[in-house]
Amino acid sequence: MPLPGPPDRILVGPSGPLGGQVTISGAKNSVLKLMAATCLAEGTYVLRNVPDITDVTCMADLLASMGMTVARTAPGELTLVHPPGIVPEAPYELVERMRASIVVLGPLLARYGRARVALPGGDDFGPRPIDMHQRGLEQLGAVFTSAHGYIEATAEHLVGTSILLEFPSVGATENALMAAVLARGTTVIDNAAREPEIADLAAFLNRMGARVAGAGSSTITIEGVDALAPVEHTVVPDRIEAATFLAALGVAGGAIRLVGARAEHMDMYLQKLTEMGMGITVEPDGITAVAGQRLRSVDVSTLPYPGLATDYKPFFVAMLTTADGVGIVTENIFSGRFRYIDELVRMGADIRTEGHHAVVRGRARLSGAPVRAHDIRAGAALVVAALGAEGETAVSDADHIDRGYEQFVEKLAGLGADVRRG
Ligand code: UD1
Repeated sequence: MPLPGPPDRILVGPSGPLGGQVTISGAKNSVLKLMAATCLAEGTYVLRNVPDITDVTCMADLLASMGMTVARTAPGELTLVHPPGIVPEAPYELVERMRASIVVLGPLLARYGRARVALPGGDDFGPRPIDMHQRGLEQLGAVFTSAHGYIEATAEHLVGTSILLEFPSVGATENALMAAVLARGTTVIDNAAREPEIADLAAFLNRMGARVAGAGSSTITIEGVDALAPVEHTVVPDRIEAATFLAALGVAGGAIRLVGARAEHMDMYLQKLTEMGMGITVEPDGITAVAGQRLRSVDVSTLPYPGLATDYKPFFVAMLTTADGVGIVTENIFSGRFRYIDELVRMGADIRTEGHHAVVRGRARLSGAPVRAHDIRAGAALVVAALGAEGETAVSDADHIDRGYEQFVEKLAGLGADVRRG
């Protein structure tokens, strides 16, 4: 019988000032891709600083369904064994649980000449097309067919080429990169996504024997090699988790230290928080931040990295609900991603949305209410906003938060927030 999971509600009371320190876990958006990259070569891999989150379990289930073995061998350590003869297929039940599963397409195709992957559906952010993933792989020589909700890509051998992405899509960059490492000849990806997690993936691939240059910039050059070998690797810290605790500080006030946070991966976020009145000190192994009574409102606009990440947007909206003044938040990456705003309005927030803009008029205090988490970041943002509300807030469907945050409640409570499962 499966063990019961944690209760699906998070109860939050008025909190602050926060104090103490919290250790930042490995990045969800990196580890999932590193796990996918183990499709590229047989053997045993060890990943360290792996967050204990359900999306990692989901990717482990996907790799296991193909015939790999994935086990937690120590705290924060994942050992993956890729045996000969895995089945290069990603079934619907698993892709539907986690859309990031699509990143197995490139590595499976490169290693096995064939990959069959269920088509991901839309989600709360709006449609999630994979046309750019497909086009990049076609340019490398793959042929696609689709039937019964699956796409199948085949290629006798991939051949290096120039790929100009229409938009710096994170997933499309990663799929093209992981396919190109085993292609014949040189591939250049232009207008590539520049996220730190892509640089982490390239470092992992290079350690495996790939020849990737320029990852982290918008032009990535890949010299194809004949074969790769398994390696050990430590996952880059999660800038979005770090951003979440800074948002909590912004709402509740206080002084906290984020151990392991990499300030250089979140420059624009830190710049905005400084504009809002937070004091930020960058240290060799983390960040210390101080926030007084009430932040000042600012306008923010999401953009591909190094612009403000779309994942930060719910945190800004949460902070602005109780900041001093009016702030306009503009979403430029995903068409949806505003549903949690209705939940914040139920907590008394003054927010008007128009197209991809949200106008947030700060109030002195929100009012605790039962609300629902619709996705990972929106769920975390509701908890953050609730720290500044009068009375208790109950955030239901908190399992969304567990997809991307390790010990979220425990970590926040460790900083002095009044937060618990219930
Ligand atoms: C990744 C992150 C997610 C983050 C997002 C943008 C993971 C697991 N997820 O998602 O947290 O919010 O980057 O920083 O790493 N698009 C197309 N066609 C495509 C691919 C994308 O139109 O083939 C569009 C998307 O609909 C979206 C935009 O491009 O509007 C950006 O998407 P993308 O960068 O690909 O995001 P993901 O890789 O899915």
